[in-house]
Amino acid sequence: MLLCELRTEYRENPIGLSCRLPRFSWKMKSEKQNTMQSWYHIIVSDKEQVVWDSGKVCSEDSVLISYGGDELIPETHYRVKVETGSNHGESAQGEMWFETGIFDPETFLAKMITHNFAEKETACPTFYKKFTIDKMVKNAKIYATSHGVYEMQLNGSRIGNDRMTPGWTSYHHRLQYQTYDITAMLQKKNQIEMTVGNGWYKGILGFTCRPDIYGERVGAFAEIHIYYEDGSREIIFTDDSWSVRTGQIRYSEIYMGETIDTNEACINQGNVIIKEFDKGVLTAQENEPVRITDRLPAKKTFVTPKGENLVDFGQNLTGIAEIKMQGKKGQKIVIRHAETLDKDGNFYPDTLRQAKSVDTFICNGEEQIFLPHFTFHGFRYLCIEGMEEIKPEQFTACVMNSDMEHTGEFFCSNKKVNQLQSNIWWGQKGNFLDIPTDCPQRDERLGWTGDAQIFSWTAAFNSNTALFFTKWMRDVAAESSLDKGVPHVIPDILGQYSASAWSDAAVIVPWVVYQTYGDKQVLEENWKCMHEWVDYIRNHCGENKLWQTGFQYGDWLALDKEEGADRTGATDKYMIANAYYLYVTDLVKQTAEVLEKKQEASKYAALYNETLEAFRAEYYTPTGRIVSETQTGAVLSLYFHLAKEKDREKIVKTLVANIENHKNHLTTGFVGTPYLCHALSENDSHETASAIFMKEDCPSWLYAVNMGATTVWERWDSIKPDGSFDESGMNSLNHYAYGSIGDWLYRKVAGLSQLEPGYKKFQIKPMLVKGIEEAEVRYESVYGKIACKWSCRNGKINLKVSVPANTKAVIYLPERIEAESKMEVGSGVHEYEYETTINLSHERFSMDSTLAEIVSEPLAVEMFNQYVPGMLEGPMIQFAMQMTLSEMLSAAPEARPMYEAVVNALNEKERTNE
Ligand code: BGC
Repeated sequence: MLLCELRTEYRENPIGLSCRLPRFSWKMKSEKQNTMQSWYHIIVSDKEQVVWDSGKVCSEDSVLISYGGDELIPETHYRVKVETGSNHGESAQGEMWFETGIFDPETFLAKMITHNFAEKETACPTFYKKFTIDKMVKNAKIYATSHGVYEMQLNGSRIGNDRMTPGWTSYHHRLQYQTYDITAMLQKKNQIEMTVGNGWYKGILGFTCRPDIYGERVGAFAEIHIYYEDGSREIIFTDDSWSVRTGQIRYSEIYMGETIDTNEACINQGNVIIKEFDKGVLTAQENEPVRITDRLPAKKTFVTPKGENLVDFGQNLTGIAEIKMQGKKGQKIVIRHAETLDKDGNFYPDTLRQAKSVDTFICNGEEQIFLPHFTFHGFRYLCIEGMEEIKPEQFTACVMNSDMEHTGEFFCSNKKVNQLQSNIWWGQKGNFLDIPTDCPQRDERLGWTGDAQIFSWTAAFNSNTALFFTKWMRDVAAESSLDKGVPHVIPDILGQYSASAWSDAAVIVPWVVYQTYGDKQVLEENWKCMHEWVDYIRNHCGENKLWQTGFQYGDWLALDKEEGADRTGATDKYMIANAYYLYVTDLVKQTAEVLEKKQEASKYAALYNETLEAFRAEYYTPTGRIVSETQTGAVLSLYFHLAKEKDREKIVKTLVANIENHKNHLTTGFVGTPYLCHALSENDSHETASAIFMKEDCPSWLYAVNMGATTVWERWDSIKPDGSFDESGMNSLNHYAYGSIGDWLYRKVAGLSQLEPGYKKFQIKPMLVKGIEEAEVRYESVYGKIACKWSCRNGKINLKVSVPANTKAVIYLPERIEAESKMEVGSGVHEYEYETTINLSHERFSMDSTLAEIVSEPLAVEMFNQYVPGMLEGPMIQFAMQMTLSEMLSAAPEARPMYEAVVNALNEKERTNE
């Protein structure tokens, strides 16, 4: 048996920890089947002595066990020894360490300093100080933060590799500082420099492009703690003894881009001014910092029909481009960014709206590498001006995001579905840049609560989002109140509060974190904010006990109503609001149970019951019809268990009929989409879920894949079949909301769901999909790697499941009678094989395909022209385009053999292409 991946507060050997009761986790690995932990023993010691000996504790707990010893001392190194034993009598040991940082931010001596440059000066200030060291250094740390975003250099070398520090928080309430070990960087004579860009603090932000949202001047705050071998300590900190000058970064804005002039640095000397600052808002770095996590070489360079010089990275991404070149002294290179090309193959930056995203470099004549510092863009293409010749090897896309552990992978036998999973993953990376954003490219990039909650389950599978969401939820809590409710975006720069399915993030996101990582503390921390959101709604209910006032986003961007100005879809907005009200009331009740708050649990249970009764009276007829008979109305009724049991079957039929009326297409927006396939699969309509999912024409997930998407789009038809764009002014090509289908892929198709928080016990229950003959999920849970792979081919179903030590799984064999196939197993590898008559081979085209879908394939056009020359040119053909082949048969039954021949030929072609 082995102990591995020992962690303190989810991190490997962290420094700068500011919590007084850190939590420890580890994973067990064993060759033996059915291994469970039966005891653990934790010993924590500082240099001299043991500060906590847990003793031998008989327990299966191995995740997030709270420190329980003497009070920890700031800035101290602690070693942690863990020993565990298993039910087979084996034992294993492991070690880790952590270092505490500053517990009380008021103890910092540093001041927030700023400059006195004229207001029109756009160059980023660099604050600096020289200091000398005469003694032997044992250990040195720097604690730093800023108003704005900063980078530091010590003796000419960059400190750390984090980007966009200190990140974006609700700055008036909370400001993170970072801790770096600089022991090895110190010399006798030293110069520390800190350059600060406008960032989110002072920069242009939001779709109104407003600057100075948090303040008019950037600031720097840093404190170096040097511990000498002789036991003495020295502190160097920002104050009016520092100096300030401008440098090479002449301009920097997140949306607009950065200008770096290496030719004439144009150094302006200024004066340092102390800025008023409340140190109480300081908090040590809470989530994984933003870093460059990937470097993609350019795929190609080319010239567009308009004559633009472009670089293509082959992937829509978030980050910055690095350019290697030798220009002439003073040569100016301008780099523009875009997600896509227009239908003629020209550069198309319109999806960025007012975010100019232009980086400008001025060369010094030497060989140089350019990389912006305080900006990021959403792009696949660069348009280069100012270089005579461009070569792919000169360009690298540096992908930026919060550097979380990549925990989940999904693969299957269908290439297009794999591309969709890749698009979901890239959408997640690009939009988890310190906060969960709606999109990374346009003049928005805000912490939209609705988008975050919709995507939070999918995200928690793909990456370990525990710390990321813990941090963001602290901002949610800081900016929410019983009085105003929960903002639409967090950090809140819009001042708009409380809309259903958006503000509900306050309850849903902590619940997702608890369920995925078994982290109870996130519920404790957020309890107030969670129940106050429900209380806010209750306070705004009418006499009928329902919430039917105020602004709502409804089923945002749904297709079942002409888009018009409000974009809210056809489902009754207040039905959605009250459905969500019920959903979160139930989660708050469950949270109260987890936290052993008995009274509150019964209070919210009673609130749930009376609201449900009111909801049913308002939104269902006595015979079980829904007032809003839309797909989303039905999905919420089923998935949130709102309809009466007796009416569920009828509602399922309504939903399926609605889908069939749309030729197996969805019409849902942000609210209905995440649960549409789940609601069908869970209600004996998995085939309909599969049919919707496997559709390849608009609207569908795979339509975008067919159109060459490499991220998930904001709209089902962001790019239209003819290559033109939605031009309503809101058309991001990297919006993760509809990527929430990932959760259905992982839970239903691959079959993995947690039954107990943290996947201590989980379920494997794959549901087969026509067109997918094999699927696989690998998930690094907090207990260890879970894997499940199934295939259904050549008359055989095979299922292989790996269960990590200290967990249990409940396995259902696909296509077997549920009650008979269900089994509970312990850790180890479990494999099953049995015969089947099911054939899942992919058939993209059928008699249910529309003529438009069929003739989008040149082979079909060729065949029709051969069979019935001129058929596709008749005056009525446009009317037929949206009809399915089956529907067309009613007018011309004799065409059946021709249609079948075309369908077969197209499917055959697809098969050979796979
Ligand atoms: C954002 C969305 C967001 C919405 C609010 C948009 O501008 O990009 O994703 O949720 O506004 O409805």
